[in-house]
Amino acid sequence: MTSLLHIDSSPRFTSVSREISAEFARTWRKNNPESAYVYRDLAAEPVPHIDDAQIAVMHRLESEGVRDLAAARNAARPGAEADSWAVAWPLVEELLAADTIVLGVPMYNFSVPSTFKAWFDRVLIAPLIADPQTGVGPLTGKKVVVASARGGAYGPNTPRHDSDHQERYLRAALGMIGLAEDITFLHAEMTKSAHVPRLAQFKDIAVASYRAALDGARTHADRC
Ligand SMILES: Cc1cc2nc3c(=O)[nH]c(=O)nc-3n(C[C@H](O)[C@H](O)[C@H](O)COP(=O)(O)O)c2cc1C
Repeated sequence: MTSLLHIDSSPRFTSVSREISAEFARTWRKNNPESAYVYRDLAAEPVPHIDDAQIAVMHRLESEGVRDLAAARNAARPGAEADSWAVAWPLVEELLAADTIVLGVPMYNFSVPSTFKAWFDRVLIAPLIADPQTGVGPLTGKKVVVASARGGAYGPNTPRHDSDHQERYLRAALGMIGLAEDITFLHAEMTKSAHVPRLAQFKDIAVASYRAALDGARTHADRC
């Protein structure tokens, strides 16, 4: 049976990235009514920042070369390590259990919101990293869709193209754990044209890219 993990990170009630990720999830769930669906809202329930205890566990996994997930699951020592690992491990299991992952991620300061980063710092543990010899890891083969919204425009030939560290970061970070092989970015751009007077001239671009992102969400969900 197939399964979907749906994660949002915008704190806005009228979030565009949430609308796109929701469109994907709605279509996917309509097509897969019996399948498992897990939703995580990183803005409503932020993942606590990684701490000394989790890093101690991760360092031990690295120094001992542990790649086995069952061993990693039980790697924390009682006390602070076990408490911190109990925060991280369910997040890791959610990723392992999903066949398809949709991530609602706004662009913040040319990159991703800190809530998303805090989640990712927790889940990137060594046993999830793709084997450098084979390029294969436990998450290889999963489909990832990024529902993105940004106030400006960052496509090829735009003045800010080189400042797009959101897509670049996500490709690199998710690639570390084998999640960038089948990845699709759906960008709704120029969202700030709705409230910034000098950007009002770009409203048509915003509407077109919003519609294309919603269409893309439906099309990609139909293909899963
Ligand atoms: C803290 C913050 C930082 C932002 N940084 C950028 C930025 O670097 N580039 C950009 O184009 N828009 C930026 N924006 C605008 C958001 O990307 C835009 O409002 C987007 O629609 C937010 O996603 P959402 O609609 O899902 O909340 C920023 C907004 C906030 C609140």
